[in-house]
Amino acid sequence: MPRVLSGIQPSGDVHLGNLLGALQNWVADQHSHESFHPIVDLHAVTAPQDPGELRAATLRLAQMLMAAGLDPEVCVLFVQSHVGEHTQLAWVLECTTGFGELRRMHQFKDKSADVDFVSAGLFTYPVLQAADILLYDTDVVPVGDDQRQHVELTRDIAQRFNARYGEVLAVPAHRIPPAGARVMDLQEPTRKMSKSAGEAPGTIGLLEGPEAVRRKIRRAVTDSEAEVRFDRDAKPGVSNLLEILGAATGRTPQEVAAAYDRYGPLKNDCAEAVVELLAPIRRRFDELCADPAETQRALAAGAKTAGDVAAATMARVREAMGFLPRG
Ligand code: TRP
Repeated sequence: MPRVLSGIQPSGDVHLGNLLGALQNWVADQHSHESFHPIVDLHAVTAPQDPGELRAATLRLAQMLMAAGLDPEVCVLFVQSHVGEHTQLAWVLECTTGFGELRRMHQFKDKSADVDFVSAGLFTYPVLQAADILLYDTDVVPVGDDQRQHVELTRDIAQRFNARYGEVLAVPAHRIPPAGARVMDLQEPTRKMSKSAGEAPGTIGLLEGPEAVRRKIRRAVTDSEAEVRFDRDAKPGVSNLLEILGAATGRTPQEVAAAYDRYGPLKNDCAEAVVELLAPIRRRFDELCADPAETQRALAAGAKTAGDVAAATMARVREAMGFLPRG
């Protein structure tokens, strides 16, 4: 089976955009791929984190991912910092990455723009991501367009490493998930629904209750026309609702558009579809929270499986680079 790997940061809550854009694909992929999903807590600390909150957010994210359908018996779900090889490989890869290459990363430019402390870790973040991917001989990295540059850098690093030291690292492919929905903010439908929106009226959290879901969708921005049509440029708000309802019910937005001629019924059905989609996830999440030890056992098992693969890769890397064995 081909191996896929995709990581997710324990910062902010998972929202409907994550679910329909990525997570649903991961859940489907786990049966046809060997799937690795690290919760990337080491990436999270490139910006300051409150320790208690980081710990709680990490466990909570694991519970949300499991509630959404990632099955730790089927895929490898683990916490990045539980597998020490991530930082070990990241260091040696930093030594095969050009300073100029990192300076060109869009995400670094964006994230360092409006903060008063820019850590060196934020700068080398893409190399840690490359280590995440390369430790597991990953074939495909199913991430969105915003991560394309990081995956391309990962390929460059792997190729350069192999040119220097022999065929040690597998070169991964980037894959834009086929049917992953692009869910936009309900109030500002020209920007992506974003994390950590909390009470934000434009974001629907994975664990949001039926009343909040209905209210937010009822108040979603549309436009002053009355025509239901999928057109992201001219009708971003309506198109977003079509996209959400389509993704929640396994249809294309165009198919959904053909079934409506007024905004009211479209909003109603969109809200009900989302309520129905989230209900079992909330139920499962509550069960998992009642017994946190179950999730912690699952994460420990995931770290064991991941750790065995990572240790083998790191042994190859050390040997190839000429580090003296401990003996
Ligand atoms: N950088 C990714 C993001 O911002 C998260 C991430 C970390 C990741 N390691 C990864 C994604 C490895 C894919 C593969 O979303």
